[in-house]
Amino acid sequence: MHQHLLVSDTRHFRVEDEINPYMDRARQPDPAAARAEHDALVAAHAAAGRTVEHLASAPGESDMVFTANAALVRGDRAVLGRPPAARAGEIAHVRAWLAARGVVAEDAPYAFSGQGDALALRDDLLLAATGQRTDPRMLGVLAERLDHEVVPLRTVSPEFYDLDLAVGVPDPDGLLAWCPEALDEPSRARVRGLRRRGFTLVEVDLAEARAFALNLVGDGRHVTMTRGAPRLAAALRAHGLTVTELATEQLARSGGGVRCTALTLDVPGTRTAVAA
Ligand code: ARG
Repeated sequence: MHQHLLVSDTRHFRVEDEINPYMDRARQPDPAAARAEHDALVAAHAAAGRTVEHLASAPGESDMVFTANAALVRGDRAVLGRPPAARAGEIAHVRAWLAARGVVAEDAPYAFSGQGDALALRDDLLLAATGQRTDPRMLGVLAERLDHEVVPLRTVSPEFYDLDLAVGVPDPDGLLAWCPEALDEPSRARVRGLRRRGFTLVEVDLAEARAFALNLVGDGRHVTMTRGAPRLAAALRAHGLTVTELATEQLARSGGGVRCTALTLDVPGTRTAVAA
């Protein structure tokens, strides 16, 4: 499955407002190392055959490198993120970028963490989480505006402030990785129920989940992930995937990783391709 990703850059990346438990203003990312990490991620996406587009970060937007939170895109439609106040300024930049490419992006009427809390699978399936940064009322909005069949999930703690820390999608057509402890019991049952729909599930322990193991980009052939999770990497290789493990220590200082820095433009099941 060909993937088309929107990334930004680390030019203005800093730990400012501590809006997740991994952030500590006293532990700032090193600018040169952060840039090298991000460059290596982008190079890995390109090497995996993904199309990568770039939106320049804006001064003062210290979390803008995490493009995943800015929207959920499906074909030529999108619902914009509605992040914590500290990140609200990012949204106008992404709205303008999408509009220039013919994507009609609507504002979210309630709190919404964008793709951070909404992972698209094959067909119309969308794993969408509430509990931290996404208002439960958003699930109906996503179903209606983007024609998704929403599988509602709930993350249990601020350590999993976004679903993309609790569930990873190595292959949107059939392979999921997840940390059961990060979800409440009804959510666990729903994830297990995906087996009946032909999905294979790989379990990840809390230690690797906390090391951002699940914050990965996968397309069914290549998986790009952090180097901090050797058990998951080995499990994915055993499933026949080509795995690239990269440094994410600087991004981790802000509570982010591989998946957060890439907004997918052509989600699985897209009916209308996004013009490049
Ligand atoms: N510091 C950023 C925040 O708290 C990190 C966002 C990472 N994004 C993600 N999809 N997990 O908003």
